[in-house]
Amino acid sequence: MSEFILRPMAAADLPAILGIQAQCYRGALHESGAALASRLALSPATCWVAAPPGRPQALAAYLFSHMWPRDGLPPLDGVLARDWEGGELTWFVHDMAVAPAGQGQGLALRLYQAARAAALDAGLRSSRLVAVQSAAGWWGRLGYQQIAPVGAALSAKLAVYGDEAVWMGREL
Ligand SMILES: CC(C)(COP(=O)(O)OP(=O)(O)OC[C@H]1O[C@@H](n2cnc3c(N)ncnc32)[C@H](O)[C@@H]1OP(=O)(O)O)[C@@H](O)C(=O)NCCC(=O)NCCS
Repeated sequence: MSEFILRPMAAADLPAILGIQAQCYRGALHESGAALASRLALSPATCWVAAPPGRPQALAAYLFSHMWPRDGLPPLDGVLARDWEGGELTWFVHDMAVAPAGQGQGLALRLYQAARAAALDAGLRSSRLVAVQSAAGWWGRLGYQQIAPVGAALSAKLAVYGDEAVWMGREL
């Protein structure tokens, strides 16, 4: 178990989050501050960060997640709004990244568990995500299974996440 302290994300964390994003993702997957801020605004209770004790602004990791229509996909790097009507919602785990120095200490799992508890509190009972950069195995260990996109529109949205992107889901 790592010594890092977990806490809910704040808008003031975004510059540090962009720094971790730059270390963890290849350029095509980088998202703007506006796109990430919209995800935090959509669902502050399910966005979390981790930092060392006594240095709450020195982030080591972050996780963005939010509710979203269960059978849809939010646009990568898009500014999101709560503009759906009706239909079942899911807990969409959008982006989890641990800076290289903090990896391999269970931090990602702790962030996931904190955000999952908030999603359950919000009444969400399923989860969806897009695995990128060969992370499908990591999610598979948590019980996520691949979902095949139905229809050209959904396939096109998934393709924006990259050739190797895998849409995955599980019940909570
Ligand atoms: C994937 C990531 C979030 C894991 O963070 P972490 O804090 O190191 O993960 P944990 O310590 O909780 O888990 C580590 C375990 O996951 C395994 N693991 C790490 N990356 C993996 C991957 N891509 N696929 C499968 N397993 C992976 C490790 O081998 C380790 O296994 P062990 O417990 O048997 O030793 C981190 O490597 C990362 O930020 N990567 C870059 C960003 C990224 O790709 N995020 C996922 C996008 S969907």
